Amino acid sequence: MQFAQNINTPVYICEEDKLRANLELLQNIEQRSGAKILLALKGFAFSYYGKLVSEYLSGCCCSGLYEAKFANEYFSNDSSEVHTYSVGFKDDDIDEIVSLCHHIVFNSYNQYKKYFDKCKNKKVAIRINPNISLAPTELYNPCGLYSRFGVKIEEFENLVKNDTEFLNNLDGLHFHALCEESAESLYIVLTQVKKDFSKYFKYISYINFGGGHHITKKGYNVELLIKIIQEFKDEFNIDVYLEPGEAVGWQTGVLVASVIDIVHNDIDVAVLDVSAEAHMPDTLAQPYRADVIGGDLKDKKAFNYMLAGNTCLSGDVMGIYSFDKKLKVGDKVIFEDMIHYTIVKNTTFNGIKLPNLGVKDSNNDIKIVKSFDYESYKTRN
Ligand SMILES: Cc1ncc(COP(=O)(O)O)c(C=O)c1O
Repeated sequence: MQFAQNINTPVYICEEDKLRANLELLQNIEQRSGAKILLALKGFAFSYYGKLVSEYLSGCCCSGLYEAKFANEYFSNDSSEVHTYSVGFKDDDIDEIVSLCHHIVFNSYNQYKKYFDKCKNKKVAIRINPNISLAPTELYNPCGLYSRFGVKIEEFENLVKNDTEFLNNLDGLHFHALCEESAESLYIVLTQVKKDFSKYFKYISYINFGGGHHITKKGYNVELLIKIIQEFKDEFNIDVYLEPGEAVGWQTGVLVASVIDIVHNDIDVAVLDVSAEAHMPDTLAQPYRADVIGGDLKDKKAFNYMLAGNTCLSGDVMGIYSFDKKLKVGDKVIFEDMIHYTIVKNTTFNGIKLPNLGVKDSNNDIKIVKSFDYESYKTRN
């Protein structure tokens, strides 16, 4: 990756052609299936490309006031929809959120009761918990034991019995049960949702299938997804929404780091100017091993290095990688697929610098669109 060799690090670089390719696929699915696709800002909130994203997708799904403001500021055009679901809306925010959104999704009946009257002229939905999950890890399992997300069928049935207004007040149902999943997994979850909730579909005008659809990953069964949506729409005649985050930002860019020191402790350890903990948190939380350009598994190439972050957290390491050539101070180390769930989650832990945000535009020109300095640390501490 020649373009990254002369750039100041640390920096995330989002590549426009790759982002466009994801958006084209998602737009094609919208057009062929009739579903609307919203960007989940929690996974990809790259303001520089807000206008671009809103040219392709139907809007944004937000998790609260700040994302709703961000959606309105950067990710909207006249036809964009803004949906906000929160695990818990607060009195402080609700009026402003309602003013910024077209759809409000409540997590619980309590929240619906508390705020429904404020949602005049807005579409109102409630999140349901299908009580089935195929998520790969408990950390990302929305329907696991003691999950706080959504209403299960037993509770839903009681609510319908005890509150005669409830169904009539609802415009939609929302579920989110997937994480990096296939269309086949969606089919399984949807079968369960239909089994339990389809008797209520005649009262609503839309359903949101949530996020976690790994649509832009190679091998994802796009044709099956389209078939599932079309059959669902034919059967129930209600609108369908999807709200992926990861699939929008999937494989759209890199995090470029520099080697700042090499120490030896049984193995050569390359200390980088990025942190797994602060700048690529899912590598530790999920956990997973990020691909490095030119790097391979331990012992596959001539020289092994433990790649390590620049914080005092002992476990702030990316793993052992092997390279054809020895690393030296100043060399670039480039982590792949570092745009989604990184920039939105990164921190200044240890007072380290936030990586700048760069883009590689359609002419292959690189530019820095946002840089962070001491102020970014100071204002938060
Ligand atoms: C309610 C909801 N919708 C959408 C998403 C986006 O999921 P993903 O980025 O995996 O597509 C999430 C992720 O946690 C979510 O909680």
